[in-house]
Amino acid sequence: MTHHILIDTDPGVDDAMAIFLALRSSEIELLGLTTVFGNSTVDATTRNALNLLHVAGRDDIPVARGAWRPLVLPLGETGEWVHGADAMGNIGWTDVLKPELRAVDAPAARFIVETVMARPGEITLVPIGPLTNLALALQLEPRIAQAVKAVVMMGGSAMAPGNVSPLAEANVHNDPHAASLVFGAGWPIVMAGLDVTESIPMDNDDFAALAASSDPLGRFIPRIVGHYQDFHRDWYKLPNGEIHTHDACAVLHLIDPTLFGGQDWSINVPLDGLAKGATLVDRRGSFYTTPKVHCLTTVDHARLIDVYRTRMGATARVRR
Ligand code: RIB
Ligand code: CA
Repeated sequence: MTHHILIDTDPGVDDAMAIFLALRSSEIELLGLTTVFGNSTVDATTRNALNLLHVAGRDDIPVARGAWRPLVLPLGETGEWVHGADAMGNIGWTDVLKPELRAVDAPAARFIVETVMARPGEITLVPIGPLTNLALALQLEPRIAQAVKAVVMMGGSAMAPGNVSPLAEANVHNDPHAASLVFGAGWPIVMAGLDVTESIPMDNDDFAALAASSDPLGRFIPRIVGHYQDFHRDWYKLPNGEIHTHDACAVLHLIDPTLFGGQDWSINVPLDGLAKGATLVDRRGSFYTTPKVHCLTTVDHARLIDVYRTRMGATARVRR
């Protein structure tokens, strides 16, 4: 089965890892990237999206520029402190590598609507940044909730602590109003949240293997990951170059859903206060009537890392 997907993204080091994985997976046809603020401004994330596709030799894949700010809240701090000044590990991207490359004229929300409505039941949306573009697309054309095949997102958390506040994960916290609309829309959602994305660190051993990859895209990843590793060392006290492999988890779920286990729960997102941007999950099934979301809660770590490494042209991990 081929998944025809749009990745909605704020690249971002781990976004780049997810995009390259999608490009190297025969189960996936990447129809476009839509960009959003988050790990940097939307100017920078759009530039990075164009450049990543250019590095991959895929200038044919369209990029649609999306939201520069959340639906309701003002733009908060963007994520350069995690992902580097260019949000690409300080590789030095200040411009589009091939100047004639541009985002398409349609803004991301319209691009999403047109893509989904042109192929009802076929398109999977893979948001790996704040959910603003998906919310805007729902406002533009509510019928996409029935026309989409699935939404497979990185964001939120069912049980794990937050990563930008005690309860909240960054992508949901960056635009809680948008996340609330997306969780409430009634379309089929898989949520790859911190429960699984933080439990699968890649480390120095994996990046050494990728540096020796037979695939230039595999070899590109160690070039951008250093600043992100430094952040994880300083913030999470991870000693061996470990990173949280967040965004690739959404793509990995498409490649092989048996890598994960999960449960269907209703979710509500507080819009302000101490719990702003948390994904409150009704694990008893007693409290919320909002649509159920398939929340990933377990992951086969060893197998998943090997899928990532081998897809990117590296050797499988030596079992420890
Ligand atoms: O919380 C992790 C998420 O925040 C990832 O999508 C990462 O790229 C950042 O956007
Ligand atoms: Ca991201």
